[in-house]
Amino acid sequence: MIESLLQERRTFPPPESFARAAHIPSAEAAAALRREAETDPDGFWLRQAAQLVWRRPPTRALDASCYPFVRWFDDGELNLTESCLDRHLHTPRRNQAALLWEGEPGDTRVLTYQQLHREVCRTANVLKSLGVRCGDRVVLYMPMVPELVVAVLACARLGATHSVIFGGFSAEAIRDRILDAGATCVITADGGWRRGKIVPLKQNVDAALRHCPQVRAVLVVTRTGESVPMTPGRDHFYADLVRGQSAVCPAVPVPAEHPLFILYTSGTTGKPKGVVHSTGGYGTQVALTTRWVFDLRDGDTYWCTADIGWITGHSYVLYGPLLCGGTTLLYEGAPDTPDKDRFWDIVARWGVTILYTAPTAIRAFMRWGDAYPARHDLSSLRLLGTVGEPINPAAWTWYHEVIGGGRCPIVDTWWQTETGAILAAPLPGATPTKPGSCTHPLPGVALEVVRKDGTRCNDNEGGYLVALRPWPAQLRTVWGDPDRYRQQYFSDIQVDGRPVYFTGDGARRDEDGYLWVMGRVDDVLNVAGHRIGTAEVESALVSHPDVAEAAVVGRPDELKGQAIVAFVTLRAGRTPGPEMQAQLKQHVVHEIGALARPEEIRFTEALPKTRSGKIMRRLLRELAAGGKVQGDVTTLEDLSVLQRLATSADEE
Ligand code: PRX
Repeated sequence: MIESLLQERRTFPPPESFARAAHIPSAEAAAALRREAETDPDGFWLRQAAQLVWRRPPTRALDASCYPFVRWFDDGELNLTESCLDRHLHTPRRNQAALLWEGEPGDTRVLTYQQLHREVCRTANVLKSLGVRCGDRVVLYMPMVPELVVAVLACARLGATHSVIFGGFSAEAIRDRILDAGATCVITADGGWRRGKIVPLKQNVDAALRHCPQVRAVLVVTRTGESVPMTPGRDHFYADLVRGQSAVCPAVPVPAEHPLFILYTSGTTGKPKGVVHSTGGYGTQVALTTRWVFDLRDGDTYWCTADIGWITGHSYVLYGPLLCGGTTLLYEGAPDTPDKDRFWDIVARWGVTILYTAPTAIRAFMRWGDAYPARHDLSSLRLLGTVGEPINPAAWTWYHEVIGGGRCPIVDTWWQTETGAILAAPLPGATPTKPGSCTHPLPGVALEVVRKDGTRCNDNEGGYLVALRPWPAQLRTVWGDPDRYRQQYFSDIQVDGRPVYFTGDGARRDEDGYLWVMGRVDDVLNVAGHRIGTAEVESALVSHPDVAEAAVVGRPDELKGQAIVAFVTLRAGRTPGPEMQAQLKQHVVHEIGALARPEEIRFTEALPKTRSGKIMRRLLRELAAGGKVQGDVTTLEDLSVLQRLATSADEE
């Protein structure tokens, strides 16, 4: 039984002035869409797909004959960059800004649709000259600069599958992903700016590539101007190769099911999984949700603050807004550089109308104080969004009042790397919101809260969040490991005798049918909106020569949602203490990246286990959350009491 403790009773109807102009302007309009999607799902999705530019329009929507492996629009052919760019070249939109960019040092660039198209073509020609072909995998490890957007689209232009790795990952993590994806080309930069310091991207790539002989070419964008070592024959400066390239590059049409990208994410095992997204289904649903949920329209300045290294950046910094012909803003750096008002300064200077960010950021802004937003005119904002974790009502209220001036609807969007697009969120002109609830599944989406046995939960009964039906933007498989796809997502819960997609989240529906997502019920942590598998951190820890065993759990954290706590058993003769703690933290940073650094390391002689040898995480979680404060960190915790308890307790 999953208990839900959050009780929030306020509701906020869509402001009338907002609803009047919205794409979906009323509850009736939303209900009509839901009916349409229920009564004729294939027709509904085919009509949505028709919003994209197709070389060969699809005549079929869902093919579930190999369920849980699904295909969407599979007789269609397209190249998604034509929907993002080419379609605008003969309309007045060609001179509209596609991309507004601000670097951390304060430099700015604007690229119109026409300019972005030219840059994408030139870069695609560079990639071609390096031997990149349709079906190849290209890894991108870059700062948030316009060239990242250009490079992503250049890959898509050629039908090459891109895999963007977040700039916070370490050389080891890059190596694992390059090898798993079988990438032959890497695009990076000399560095990027973060809190006034240079992130040594090229250096990390070089270290990773010592173990990746199949990588033939490395393209290096100049961002900081620092000198970086270049390996002759393999490494090329982007500026050198792009000079003189033609601004024409025919788009390569691909089948709708062609893998547009692979994005690695954490699961319940030590090995990150390569989530594979399609072209036609992904493009269709991402474009649709951008229009529905963000109500994007001409004249908007849209800013999603996520990094393109995460799914939010893929879907709602890059593809979604460009597919809708919108203007998307990109910011390279940290929210507190040079000062804690950087975001509000950006909103005011660029006249941002739609802002999409994460609860963890909102809580940090709250803590920094109202004086920072008060310095700036935020009246351009008309819609606010959140994603990544449940938003606590206090943060919601602050966002609504202090940032939104009480006038902007808030869309709390629930989705995952695997879902590709938003699956549950308010339609801002139609759905009354409740702080902390992502409200309802979007039209055409069948999310349900069920018990372990697949029966539907009662109102307000906590259960497992599942998707009863496939949706176009869903992941197609785990790269190179279809068994893991089936095992990970379709083996836990059956509804009416049929395996359904299990999200890994616990949730409840209230008496008004509102969905309240409570967070992960599996061994995946959500730290500052980032997914981190406990098993990944554990396997990083045990790869240290002094570590015998490790168990990692989450501890509730006011700012980050969860903080990582590691219980570690050292090998015989090794000395626990602050020095070892520092060493082990650094080791995790080295193996995975700073985002996975444990907040706390606690040494113990043995870990509490069930009779069958499973670590009793529940006990460790309790200990981590409320356990005795460690006065002297050098002492070993005596968990043998728990151990004895464990032998008589029920198996977890
Ligand atoms: O637990 C849910 C939480 O984030 C998980 C997905 O993480 P990731 O794949 O990294 O993607 C994050 C951005 C899409 C989910 O399983 N989550 C995401 N959005 C929400 C959320 N939890 C509650 N409310 C949300 N709006």
